[in-house]
Amino acid sequence: MTAPTTQQETSTGDAWTVKRVMDWTVAHLQRKGSDSPRLDTEILLAHARGCERIELYTHFNDVLTDDERATMRELVQRRANHEPVAYLVGYREFYSLEFEVNKDVLIPRPDTETIVLELLEIAKTMASPKIVDVCTGSGCIAISVAVNHDTAEVVATELHDVALQIAVQNSEKHEVSDRIEFLKGDLLSCIKPEQQFDIVASNPPYVATADIETLEPTVREHEPHTALDGGADGTRYISRLITDAPNYLKDGGYLMLEMGSEQAGMVCELIDENGQFSDAQILTDLAGRSRVACARKKPA
Ligand SMILES: C[S@@+](CC[C@H](N)C(=O)[O-])C[C@H]1O[C@@H](n2cnc3c(N)ncnc32)[C@H](O)[C@@H]1O
Repeated sequence: MTAPTTQQETSTGDAWTVKRVMDWTVAHLQRKGSDSPRLDTEILLAHARGCERIELYTHFNDVLTDDERATMRELVQRRANHEPVAYLVGYREFYSLEFEVNKDVLIPRPDTETIVLELLEIAKTMASPKIVDVCTGSGCIAISVAVNHDTAEVVATELHDVALQIAVQNSEKHEVSDRIEFLKGDLLSCIKPEQQFDIVASNPPYVATADIETLEPTVREHEPHTALDGGADGTRYISRLITDAPNYLKDGGYLMLEMGSEQAGMVCELIDENGQFSDAQILTDLAGRSRVACARKKPA
């Protein structure tokens, strides 16, 4: 985006209006390989102008200020370099809530709404369910559950301080910080063994190490590999959670694990082999893809 001079703008009518910047940016991001160039453009331009996306369309003929144009130029350059839009603007919507994100946390995915939806369906039959979200990252699962179930008691664990800090900030933003206990540690190991939960839920890292190289550059080059890398076949953490969860679940309590759609068979086998679970089932997302493995702890 080379800025025309004021004289050129006046004489040629080529001023950088909202419409012109949008058209230019959509075409540019499309050339640079974005699969959602219009949405990216709208979010970035609304951010640069400090307005809602809808206001872009009601202010098509506004000319951008020098500051707005400079901000937009930088954002577009970074986006063209595959930086995710959510990191550029600092937030992502998940389960109709806005979550602060930065390069230290995985960007919450629509796929993960499946585990929240199913978890809340189970939890709504319980008066004050005790729920733990293991590997909380931005806190999107724990916080969405606490916001949508007034009496749920929620614990959230995370190995990395930097991520845990974002989760705490998000819980404050959504006014549930007093209802979620955040613990730093490796999977469930930071929880006192006498704590017994109705639901152990997790979206752990589950990408097979070798597959990380095949991910979109937006993910591979910018999102934390510590949030993605699930070891040789992707089940390093899933398998540990299946082994450890029975120690933290009440009889009949639920284990709910997000996984890659192609991992369903492998995860069901691990649950089966463990022998301490019943009623194992695979839950699918709206597109019918396997997303969540769910099983109940057998009574001792
Ligand atoms: C796939 S991300 C999920 C984040 C968030 N729950 C979500 O659904 O968007 C996995 C998270 O697990 C954290 N993590 C990785 N290894 C861990 C471990 N051993 N114990 C606890 N958390 C871990 C990562 O830092 C990352 O935040």
